[in-house]
Amino acid sequence: MLTMATTAIALLAIGATAQWWDNFDPTQHLGGNSPYFSGPNVFGISTDPPPGCSVDQAGFLSRHGSRYPDPGSYNTWVNLAAKIQNASFSTWAPEFQFLQSWKSALRNPAPELSELSLGGYKELYDMGVDYRWQYPDFYTENTPFVLWANRYQQSVFRVVDSARLFARGYLGPNATVDGSVYVLNNSDPRSIANSLAASDLCANYNDNSGGDNATTWANIYVPPIVKRINSLFRGNLNFTASDVTQFPYLCGFETQITGRRSPWCDAFTQQEILAYEYSQDIRYWYGTGLGTKLEKNLMLPFLTALVQRFVDGPNATYPNGNASTPFHPNPLIATFSNDGQVNQLAAAIGVFDQEPQLPATYIPQSRIFKSSNFVTMRGTVSFERLNCGSRGLYMRIKLNDEVYPVPYCQQGPGRSCPLNQYQSIIASKTKAAGDFEVACGIANTSIVPIGQDKTTFLTNLNLPFEYVVKP
Ligand SMILES: *[C@@H]1O[C@H](CO)[C@@H](O)[C@H](O)[C@H]1NC(C)=O
Ligand SMILES: *[C@@H]1O[C@H](CO)[C@@H](O)[C@H](O)[C@H]1NC(C)=O
Ligand SMILES: *[C@@H]1O[C@H](CO)[C@@H](O)[C@H](O)[C@H]1NC(C)=O
Ligand SMILES: *[C@@H]1O[C@H](CO)[C@@H](O)[C@H](O)[C@H]1NC(C)=O
Ligand SMILES: *[C@@H]1O[C@H](CO)[C@@H](O)[C@H](O)[C@H]1NC(C)=O
Ligand SMILES: *[C@@H]1O[C@H](CO)[C@@H](O)[C@H](O)[C@H]1NC(C)=O
Ligand SMILES: *[C@@H]1O[C@H](CO)[C@@H](O)[C@H](O)[C@H]1NC(C)=O
Ligand SMILES: *[C@@H]1O[C@H](CO)[C@@H](O)[C@H](O)[C@H]1NC(C)=O
Repeated sequence: MLTMATTAIALLAIGATAQWWDNFDPTQHLGGNSPYFSGPNVFGISTDPPPGCSVDQAGFLSRHGSRYPDPGSYNTWVNLAAKIQNASFSTWAPEFQFLQSWKSALRNPAPELSELSLGGYKELYDMGVDYRWQYPDFYTENTPFVLWANRYQQSVFRVVDSARLFARGYLGPNATVDGSVYVLNNSDPRSIANSLAASDLCANYNDNSGGDNATTWANIYVPPIVKRINSLFRGNLNFTASDVTQFPYLCGFETQITGRRSPWCDAFTQQEILAYEYSQDIRYWYGTGLGTKLEKNLMLPFLTALVQRFVDGPNATYPNGNASTPFHPNPLIATFSNDGQVNQLAAAIGVFDQEPQLPATYIPQSRIFKSSNFVTMRGTVSFERLNCGSRGLYMRIKLNDEVYPVPYCQQGPGRSCPLNQYQSIIASKTKAAGDFEVACGIANTSIVPIGQDKTTFLTNLNLPFEYVVKP
């Protein structure tokens, strides 16, 4: 039961949701729970190739697109709806008038749970078209195109489906004939250091979701929000801290599932959303990023192989294992995985190497590490080989379409890094991290002996732990 009383007090209450009259978009401040958006241009660097240079090869690792919730989150939503329906309450706050009739946005949970949503379909198809527009010379109609996807879980297809939908946008109506998604089985022991989720076979890997630092920050920012929101209700509706931290999550998910701005997006004030956003930054920084010792290194085998492809150049061909025909890859290296891997890769590429450790007790306003700007759904770390003729070859990195320089290697055009120097930077990081199997606590076995624990899938389409899915 819910009633609304429009009084002068109600108007004052709206003041709490400042986003109603400025351009603040909460869906762009939800970290890993944001739908995709093209990032803000943090450094003010043009995304066009610098004058005198062209992009002759590019690559990316993208997170899967916007999706439905996993079963755990879905059950939380169902329980929250039951709790609201069961309560007897009233509120004068206009932003909560929707509560009485609110229910989960899933229509048919069995096939929807954990898979791409309609918003995800659109993100991936658009992404394919956008990449083709951006690099129109990379693909010739009716030729083969190979891309790669992490298998993720045995019965969840969101990553593979993301690659398929990207291929449909990139290749158009003949995608099913021309495209081949090579799916790498992240749990096959032969794929150690040679998949799009190497952390899944790393025994010592432990994503602590931010650990003590996440708890410290949650204990600071959440209680005042719980208190403020509960004070808006008369009756027996009493939200807990875990209820309230679902509200921004629901804002992001419902918006991409339904294609309309979720009413939950008005539940938090702008300052509260920014505090939630920072909790996501801490979660990724200390869970799988530069606040860790091991986890931050686990995409280095992939990055090493990727950079070698750029050093080899767009016209290289590879023996392709023991196949009879060599592999002549497209200049676009398209790979898809999950948020943990995107964040691990962001930690390895160098752009955040001079960021101080994130404090657990306040939000550093000047930080450039914002998970909302690259771990979003369809969040993408991308690379461009700049061919600047006699001036040489350079590496340029983009997060969700915007250029991020490597702070200690930005002397190239458009603040890019000389390609050979970038390769040396990644080699030094790999040396410091040590052998993958040793660091991960994996016994030296004959399946993948020490020294052979590296990524080869970008140049070999005949590995026994991969299989092809058509777009
Ligand atoms: C509904 O309310 C009753 C009585 O207050 C309570 O016992 C029950 O646990 C509530 N159910 C839910 C789903 O909150
Ligand atoms: C699709 O493939 C067919 C058969 O090879 C070809 O005739 C047609 O031109 C292709 N269409 C496009 C849009 O490339
Ligand atoms: C992936 O590898 C695991 C472990 O070897 C195996 O059980 C599973 O069937 C494989 N999955 C697929 C889809 O091939
Ligand atoms: C919290 O951050 C500090 C550095 O600011 C770090 O020393 C500590 O290990 C972190 N705690 C956890 C649990 O990650
Ligand atoms: C709301 O729940 C909290 C525990 O989650 C409890 O401490 C508080 O007293 C409750 N408030 C009301 C008004 O029932
Ligand atoms: C790759 O081959 C194309 C076609 O022959 C040529 O135009 C281009 O310059 C080559 N690129 C490099 C980097 O060698
Ligand atoms: C790892 O095992 C292989 C045989 O499977 C052996 O040749 C090699 O010396 C071992 N390496 C180390 C560092 O133990
Ligand atoms: C080809 O390579 C695969 C491993 O990639 C191996 O299992 C197979 O035996 C090889 N075939 C031949 C004919 O060498």
